[in-house]
Amino acid sequence: MIIDRSLAWLKRTNLGRQIAKAKIIARNQNDLGAPGKLPGWLEAYDSKRIDPDGVIRNDYEDYVTSISEADKVISLELAYLLWFILNNIRPRSVVDLGSGFSSYLFRSYQKRCAETGEDCRVLSCDDDEYWLKCTARFLQRKGLSFSGLLLWNEFLARHGHEKPDLILHDLGCMPVRLKTLADVLALGSARTITIVDDIHKEPMRQAVLKQIRDCGLRGYDLTGFTYDRFGRYAWMLTA
Ligand SMILES: C[S@@+](CC[C@H](N)C(=O)[O-])C[C@H]1O[C@@H](n2cnc3c(N)ncnc32)[C@H](O)[C@@H]1O
Repeated sequence: MIIDRSLAWLKRTNLGRQIAKAKIIARNQNDLGAPGKLPGWLEAYDSKRIDPDGVIRNDYEDYVTSISEADKVISLELAYLLWFILNNIRPRSVVDLGSGFSSYLFRSYQKRCAETGEDCRVLSCDDDEYWLKCTARFLQRKGLSFSGLLLWNEFLARHGHEKPDLILHDLGCMPVRLKTLADVLALGSARTITIVDDIHKEPMRQAVLKQIRDCGLRGYDLTGFTYDRFGRYAWMLTA
């Protein structure tokens, strides 16, 4: 009894979280094979340098308090990493699956591109009209584009053949996420980068590992960058 309580307490401490994270990283390295060595540009990532004036953090706080909840939104850790990825690979087309704070992030990048005369197309999809409307409201409030918000089925029918540079798969509830995984991965081309969130859920981890094996994809473990207080983390997939 005392040991159980002590273990439960340890898990909630910073040390406990570091131990849990280290175990996950070791297991992922094992599962992803010759340890998912990160591309050079990603090795330069430093979360402390991403948001020096706190704009992303403040808007994140706003989103999780006025529109959604922290455990239903991408983590701030993943938001920072996505911001870094956007500014490093400079995609011309982004497919944002699971509208919400991620839509804010992609459209902030899109706005920056427009300011320097570059084009970036962002399509944000959801399987629930209600959340598309919530996202539109937030984007409008932040002075960002709210066009290109559409339902997943509509997206597949109209844009399923386009090959985006960057995809985030964070769509709907877990059964929807699993059901759409193969279709989402089929959207990409040889140069597409796909970020899959919520790999901490075992069915998702197994389904992604199967896709990696079946389709000969490369999987990169982003746990070191994206592990959050809920134990969530993401992987990156490329051809
Ligand atoms: C993990 S959320 C998507 C998060 C989105 N990428 C973001 O950064 O906010 C997955 C799905 O949950 C739904 N959703 C979003 N916020 C929610 C909330 N507060 N409660 C229940 N469902 C929510 C939406 O349909 C969304 O597609």
